[in-house]
Formats: sequence, structure tokens, C-alpha cells
Amino acid sequence: MKQPSKYGFYNPGPILSYVERLRLRYSTKGNNSLQRSLGQYLTPAPVACFMASLMKMPRNQLRLLDPGAGIGSLTAAVVDRVLSMQTPCKSVSVVAWELDNEIIPLLLRTMRRCHEECRNQNITFSYIIIPEDFTETGSQAVFDLEAGNESFSFNRAILNPPYRKITSESAERLALRHIKIEASNLYAGFVALTIRLLEKDGELVAITPRSFCNGPYFKSFRTLFLKHMRFRHIHTFNRRDRAFADDGVLQENIIFYAAKNIQDQKEVVITHSEDPSSDIAPKSVVSHEDIVSLSDIERVFHIPNNDDDKTYRLAVAQNAIHLSELGISVSTGRVVDFRVKQYLRELPNKQTVPLIYPFHFQNGYVVWPKPHLKKPNSIVKNSVTLPMLMSTGYYVLVKRFSSKEERRRIVAVVFAPSFTDAEKVAFENHVNVYHVRESGMSEILAKGISAYLNTTMVDKYFRQFSGHTQVNAADLRMLTYPTINVLERIGSKIGQNYPCQNELDELVKRELQNGASNS
Ligand SMILES: C[S@@+](CC[C@H](N)C(=O)[O-])C[C@H]1O[C@@H](n2cnc3c(N)ncnc32)[C@H](O)[C@@H]1O
Repeated sequence: MKQPSKYGFYNPGPILSYVERLRLRYSTKGNNSLQRSLGQYLTPAPVACFMASLMKMPRNQLRLLDPGAGIGSLTAAVVDRVLSMQTPCKSVSVVAWELDNEIIPLLLRTMRRCHEECRNQNITFSYIIIPEDFTETGSQAVFDLEAGNESFSFNRAILNPPYRKITSESAERLALRHIKIEASNLYAGFVALTIRLLEKDGELVAITPRSFCNGPYFKSFRTLFLKHMRFRHIHTFNRRDRAFADDGVLQENIIFYAAKNIQDQKEVVITHSEDPSSDIAPKSVVSHEDIVSLSDIERVFHIPNNDDDKTYRLAVAQNAIHLSELGISVSTGRVVDFRVKQYLRELPNKQTVPLIYPFHFQNGYVVWPKPHLKKPNSIVKNSVTLPMLMSTGYYVLVKRFSSKEERRRIVAVVFAPSFTDAEKVAFENHVNVYHVRESGMSEILAKGISAYLNTTMVDKYFRQFSGHTQVNAADLRMLTYPTINVLERIGSKIGQNYPCQNELDELVKRELQNGASNS
């Protein structure tokens, strides 16, 4: 394998160069809707090479698993890597699962090419292509393996799994559940099966969305992962890829290299690049505890991009108070506007109360009403809408969806009741609302929480565990906060003119330090 340019991705070897030509031809003439339904996004050669370069190669036998193999780009990259070594292993066997009959002839061509190149270097090569659903026959293979039948066990695996939600009664979910794997997305199911099919000290490299790093849907996946595996290298991309779009929420992708050996992995290499075509930034090394603390019951995976990120994480961790300890809750706004269209009004009148959307957020506060934007400002108060309303008071609101261009992921404002006589207020579903038992809180506490959330420190911390632009109430519940006293002191310093980012960061930092020295 050729060496990378300074920090760049590796250049493809002969087999992958051949497969890449197949890929480019296939991508342009493929049946897009079928490809989409199968989550069929084939890995570009530079990324496949990079992934293969991460693995340690076994000395004698390489037994490789490639589930959801597509045209075999990942296998090709691994075999190229073997062939480029001074003392390559003696034999290579590959088991590739691929459901799509149309693509299998190309996968077959890749395998034949691998066979030919290996034969030229006196390396034994064998392969099996299983044209079946990996969740089904893979689960059976796990079952057999764990019952003592070792027909399928692997020492290396490489995968770019299909990405699709799987509902709780789907065939895939039931097959996985049969061997006690709970996965809400196909990709997590593929990785979980792969882990179970690896032997001790086995290694895997995968490219997946980043969504498994946090959130309740992937908790059982994270628990399974940590039961068996430790990360060795994590690479993050800045670009969110269409390939991993989830209901319009674009995901960042990551490549991770992990080993089935939980004893000896203390350090993890972190690298980062804008996208697959750009250079890789210099690596940093963090401890495995920096990624995930084994005392964290949520098992959230944090991925720092650099040393600054580590500092931010430690700074947030020092604020050890959870929202529930502050007596505060956070939930999504209750008004789903298209369900109550008939009660929405562009302008307020005697029958209405304010309805707050993200477009009302401005410089740290809610500015209301904002007419002429073709969006409602108000909702009629009646017996249907009453359960959706809250008492007027001071609240902290956070946007649920920030645009990619927005500087911060967490955008918080204070809702102050001063601009309305209404006794009730409504929050639309695109905002998260901090409240005290469904009511508001003191002005200085609301200002303090909102200022804390708007700091660079919290934003950088948040980005380490969230790979998309969505901010869920569950994420905000997971953050830790300073004490009420410190929050109120911060809040008491926030006036009508909201401080600029630097001032805000300095102000919060100062009050956190004062809080620490007073305690
Ligand atoms: C994201 S693509 C990646 C392909 C290939 N690994 C690569 O990196 O280029 C996922 C592949 O999994 C296949 N696939 C989807 N569902 C599958 C299933 N249940 N079992 C086996 N293969 C599946 C798709 O046809 C597709 O080729």
C-alpha cells in the first residue's frame, strides 16, 4: 500500500483500483430506489483504504467478515493491504453477506480478482458469499457459534453497514432479539452481530453514523459494545452525508476501529477530517475513560476532536448538578402546529395567547410578536388547546433544530412574560422548554441557565456526544449544571443587551471559578 500524503487518506492498491472502477460504473447506472431501500451507499476507495490501514494484520490466517459487502470494496482494501506487507499472512478467507442479487456478480468479480492477486503471491485465498439477510442468517451463525459450532468465527471484520430504522415488530428486529440484541437501526444490529461473531482479540473497523454515541435508542447497543470491545481509533468527519440522512436530520459519520479485548486498551487515537477527500488533521491521543466513563450508566460516547475539547469536557464535568437536583424539568413544546391549524392566528387578539416558535428567538430573548412572517404568533385558548398551554412566567427555551451554518448547536433564550398580559403561553414543538413543574422560574435563574447553555464550553461539550443538529430534551437532561447559587449569580449579571460570545464565556467562567472557590 502506498504511503499517505502528509496526513491524507491512503491511495488504493491494484484490487481496490479495479473495484473502484466497478463502483463508479455501478453508481451511475444503478436503480436508485432499490439502492436506497437497501441502504446501499458504497464506500469510496480512499475511505476503504483508510479503514483497512487501521487494522493490525494477523501473522498466519486472516479470517475476515464483510457483512453487507456491496461490490466488495472493503474486502478489496484489506486484501490490498495484506499484499503490500513485507511478510503477509499465509492465508486469507472471507465471508461476505450481501442481500442484493443484482450486485452479487460484481462482488464475485472482486473476489476472483482477490484470488488471482493472492495466488500470484502464494497466499491462499478462499471466500464464501452468502446471498441472504445478515440479521437472519448472521443471528443463526451467532447462535451456532455460542452453542460451540465454530463454523463461522472471525479474527477481523470490516463493515459499512446499511442504515435504516427497524421497527420493533420487523423481521430483522425479531431475528436480532432471538439472540438478545436490541437494535433500533440496522447498522447497530450489523455491528452488534459482528461483535458477537468475532473471536477474542478480534478486531473490527466500521463506518457508521454517529447517532449511536448518545440517546436512549442506542443504549443497549452501547452496553453490548462495552461489554466486549474497546476503541483503538476513532475518526470523525465534519461533513454530514446524505448517505446517512435520518428523517431530514443529517448525521455526521464516524469510522471506528475497536478490538474484542477489554483488558488492555487504555488509549484511543482520534483523527478528524472535513470529508473523505480532505486531509486528515494531526492525531491526538485520549484515554478510553475520556471517551466513555464506565461509571456513566447511560454509557454515552464522547469524541473529543482535540485537546481543547478535553478541557471543555472536564470544565462541564466539574458542574456536577443534574437538572432534577435543581428541581427543573425540560420537555419539548406541546403545540404541534399542523394538528391545531384551525386555532392558529397570525396576530394576537383577546381569545389568543402567545405561541412561541424558534423564529421568535433573538439575541438571547424571545421577541414577540413578529408579524408578517407568514407564521402564526398566537393560538386560541379553548378547551382543546388548554392542555397545551403553560402559565406565563420566565422560561428557558432551546431550539430543537439548529441549521448547519449556525455557530452553536445549543441556542438558548429567555422567555420573559413582560410583553404579554395573557395568563397562559404556548410553546411550539420545535423548541425545548425548561420549566419548574409546568410553571416558570425566577428571572435570574432563567437568565443563568440560558447563559450557561449558550457558552462555548457547553457547545463544545455537546458536540462531543451529538453528531447531528438536533438537540433533544433527553440531551439537555444529560448535561450537568452548576449549583442554583452560581446560576443565579450568572443570571444577575445578564441585562437587556445580551453579552457577545466572548463576554458571555468570560462571565460564566468567572462565576464558575468564584463558585468553586466559595464551596
Ligand atoms: C452501505 S452499503 C455498503 C456496501 C459495502 N460494504 C461498501 O462499503 O461499499 C450496505 C450494503 O448492505 C447490503 N444489505 C442491506 N441490507 C442487508 C441485509 N439485511 N443483509 C445483507 N446485506 C444487506 C446492501 O445491499 C448494500 O450493498
